[in-house]
Amino acid sequence: MTKQNLNLTPEMLVPRLGEHLVNNGHISEEDLKKALSYQQEQTAKGESLLLGEALLELKITTREMLDQAVTEQIIQLRNALQATNRNLEQRVQERTAELQRALQRLSELSELKANFISNVSHELRTPLTHIKGYIELLVSESLGAITPEQKHALQVSQNSSAQLEKLIEDLIMASVSSQGELTLKQEALDVRRIANLAVSSMTKKAEDREVSIHAVLDKGLPLVQADSQKIIWVLGQLLDNGIKFTPMGGRVVLRAEHESDKLISISVTDTGIGIPNEKIKDIFQPFHQLDGASTRQYGGTGLGLLLVRQIIEAHGSMLDVKSTEGRGTTIKFPLLVANKK
Ligand SMILES: Nc1ncnc2c1ncn2[C@@H]1O[C@H](COP(=O)(O)OP(=O)(O)O)[C@@H](O)[C@H]1O
Ligand SMILES: [Mg+2]
Repeated sequence: MTKQNLNLTPEMLVPRLGEHLVNNGHISEEDLKKALSYQQEQTAKGESLLLGEALLELKITTREMLDQAVTEQIIQLRNALQATNRNLEQRVQERTAELQRALQRLSELSELKANFISNVSHELRTPLTHIKGYIELLVSESLGAITPEQKHALQVSQNSSAQLEKLIEDLIMASVSSQGELTLKQEALDVRRIANLAVSSMTKKAEDREVSIHAVLDKGLPLVQADSQKIIWVLGQLLDNGIKFTPMGGRVVLRAEHESDKLISISVTDTGIGIPNEKIKDIFQPFHQLDGASTRQYGGTGLGLLLVRQIIEAHGSMLDVKSTEGRGTTIKFPLLVANKK
């Protein structure tokens, strides 16, 4: 269907009365000219006259013939309008179907992408587990004595495989949450236990970077309602960032304290490089890293905080970021106290 057809006017659909009468052999061209000039004359005299009236006055047509012609025109017009409507309807249907196909394709693609990431991530884990296991055996000299140089080389490999493992964990978490599968396994959990676990898993990294790390935990903290696996992952990410963006000699502290009867507040504070206020919103962008140089040095996917926020929000909570450039950063979130059984 051409564009022109979409802008139809009644004149385009139906010839004017005069033309219609001539085309159908009701009157001759001569008669039409006569009637038109008569019409003009009368109009000039101030008596406006329709063409039909002029034809009648000049007795070129009869009233019946005129009525018939007008009826023919109305029928023609109605048919033309109906055809146009049908075309429009068909066009709308075609476009709707096109859009539906595009939408379908889009959701297939995004599913494919998410499946791909998740499959690849799982496939990467298995060989990595072997690599880590054997390096560990070699470093601990369980397979025989090694020279200090060999030991050093193996420790570098150990660090790299730990980095790789973290990256894969991030990717798996990202693919899971992009598939909308961020479902929580909520349970009543002991914040102190989880906080200590998270800190001890980061101690080595902190030592390597000569950054001190410890937990400050209120006494008598009640259990909180949360998904322990995901909260451990969240604390790991926050501590990892704290250590990564804090220069040698700095400090990273994980706190858990009473905020109210119903809330326990958990925070990670560092004495690191800080984040400029206007950039705080950017750190939640996927793959976004503020300082290319330091992240290239220390690695990372730029996915961590985005996922941290998704997980915290899935708990019905919120992340609060406070930072001063050059002084340090605190990232905090409350968790709900578990109902006592
Ligand atoms: N504690 C922090 N101090 C300073 N900058 C931070 C801190 N945490 C996060 N950032 C900034 O936010 C960016 C995104 O963090 P994140 O999503 O964890 O990605 P990644 O750790 O992989 O770089 C970091 O690259 C860094 O620029
Ligand atoms: Mg990170």
